[in-house]
Amino acid sequence: MTQIITKSYEETRELGKKLAKILTKGDVVVLNGDLGAGKTALVTGFASFYGKDNEISSPTFTIINETVLNDDLSLFHFDVYRLEDEDEFYAIGGEEYFDKGITFMEWGNTIKSALPKEYLEVNIDKDDEDENVRIFNLLPHGKHYDDIVERI
Ligand SMILES: Nc1ncnc2c1ncn2[C@@H]1O[C@H](COP(=O)(O)OP(=O)(O)O)[C@@H](O)[C@H]1O
Ligand SMILES: [Mg+2]
Repeated sequence: MTQIITKSYEETRELGKKLAKILTKGDVVVLNGDLGAGKTALVTGFASFYGKDNEISSPTFTIINETVLNDDLSLFHFDVYRLEDEDEFYAIGGEEYFDKGITFMEWGNTIKSALPKEYLEVNIDKDDEDENVRIFNLLPHGKHYDDIVERI
């Protein structure tokens, strides 16, 4: 497991931007952490690499937002907090998006068995002492994501 600590919203955005330089079509990133942890902040930073950060917000009610990043790449931004279980995820055809673009999934741990075999799990904790500090624990599932984490 790799740990990255950010000390501001901006630093979390930078981490997302860094990820954008590495991730390619078909990659899946699962973001776990309480409300206000910085899940959406990370996705916003990712999208800023493509100049699309103003189009990002938590798809809490829509479950999924697509943002076209360029001619052949889309971001699929899920927030599965409101899904009851994996069946609801399958019912919306959720798993059909994975190989069609880059996926970020907020609260992905709630539908664990519907996740692809390989993905990057990111668990975000707040710091008890400092309200601007976030601890990112990067847990790669699969060799492809080992390589990605090594490059961050
Ligand atoms: N280091 C940090 N990284 C990310 N956000 C931070 C940080 N410190 C404070 N914040 C604040 O925490 C909140 C994170 O919100 P958001 O990204 O929407 O969280 P989530 O999507 O996990 O609910 C924002 O209000 C942001 O300003
Ligand atoms: Mg969010």
